[in-house]
Amino acid sequence: MRGNLTKALLAVAVLVVVGVAGLYLLTGRSSAAATQPIAFSHKNHNITRQIACEYCHTNAQVGYIAQIPPVETCYGCHRTVGTASTDPFIKSETQKIRNAYEQNQPILWNRLWFVPEHVVFAHQPHITSGVQCLDCHAQNNPPELWFQSYRPGMAWCITCHAGHGAGTDCWTCHK
Ligand code: HEC
Ligand code: HEC
Ligand code: HEC
Ligand code: HEC
Ligand code: HEC
Repeated sequence: MRGNLTKALLAVAVLVVVGVAGLYLLTGRSSAAATQPIAFSHKNHNITRQIACEYCHTNAQVGYIAQIPPVETCYGCHRTVGTASTDPFIKSETQKIRNAYEQNQPILWNRLWFVPEHVVFAHQPHITSGVQCLDCHAQNNPPELWFQSYRPGMAWCITCHAGHGAGTDCWTCHK
């Protein structure tokens, strides 16, 4: 009996996982509360401690993508920061960084910002023309939510383009 129930529950769990993955692939949407492998907080790093965006997202100035930082970037501070914390949460969350580094494992962050495949987006032309990170990424309020899941709509892009004299014909953003 018990075995069958376990199997049934397992089957349901598998269906749910496959279903969610399928939906995710089809629509490219992710949930606002996508759980991350480590409870990293932009507010505590970028706002409270004033660590610049580019310290971690090193590629945004020049690249097509901004890039999520590799574990080495975190380990640079967290080799020591957090080891002696009296807060058990800080200690255990930052221990995950040391474990990943020592075991040579990447941290598998969930992707939160999306445009669909048929849209061309690159960071570099925006940064070069003086658009700031937070002009775009501070979409959700309060600041704790700035970097959470957001899928920009076409009108958002076009409105800003029109205001800045940037391209508004279809081929600017669609290939
Ligand atoms: C100490 C390192 C660090 C700093 C500083 C930092 N970030 Fe991040 N950022 C991360 C990490 C790690 C993730 C992945 C986890 C997450 O989404 O919270 C991330 C995720 C993001 C995402 C979501 C990307 C996606 O689609 O998954 C955006 C957007 C972002 N950061 C923008 C910024 C901006 C803008 C700044 C400066 C105002 C900034 N970050 C400062 C480490 C950092
Ligand atoms: C013009 C609006 C805009 C500006 C300015 C901008 N971003 Fe983004 N960012 C986006 C969009 C749109 C996406 C999703 C792109 C995609 O799906 O390919 C994104 C994705 C990201 C991601 C996750 C995917 C990746 O590229 O690695 C990070 C991290 C990020 N941005 C950080 C930054 C940082 C740091 C800055 C400032 C240096 C910045 N962004 C400036 C609009 C912007
Ligand atoms: C420039 C130094 C620095 C870098 C780089 C850095 N951190 Fe931190 N981080 C800190 C400090 C300082 C604290 C606060 C520790 C405390 O209060 O005991 C902290 C706290 C944390 C915490 C505890 C919860 C919180 O947000 O306060 C987590 C989790 C964390 N960092 C994850 C990361 C991850 C993941 C990265 C890499 C993407 C990273 N950190 C990069 C300095 C850094
Ligand atoms: C905050 C204002 C702003 C937003 C929002 C914005 N852009 Fe831009 N975009 C610009 C500016 C300014 C330029 C630079 C135009 C230039 O160099 O002539 C640019 C340039 C571009 C380019 C390069 C075009 C070229 O001709 O080189 C592409 C592609 C692009 N944006 C796509 C997008 C997409 C897709 C979105 C929405 C996901 C978006 N942008 C959102 C302001 C914005
Ligand atoms: C400045 C960038 C930009 C320009 C210019 C632009 N688009 Fe889009 N377009 C987008 C983005 C971003 C999306 C994705 C919206 C989403 O995911 O909800 C999109 C989505 C679409 C879609 C898919 C349906 C939808 O609403 O999501 C169609 C069709 C489309 N665009 C047609 C066009 C046509 C036709 C033009 C010219 C008249 C045009 N676009 C100009 C950025 C742009």
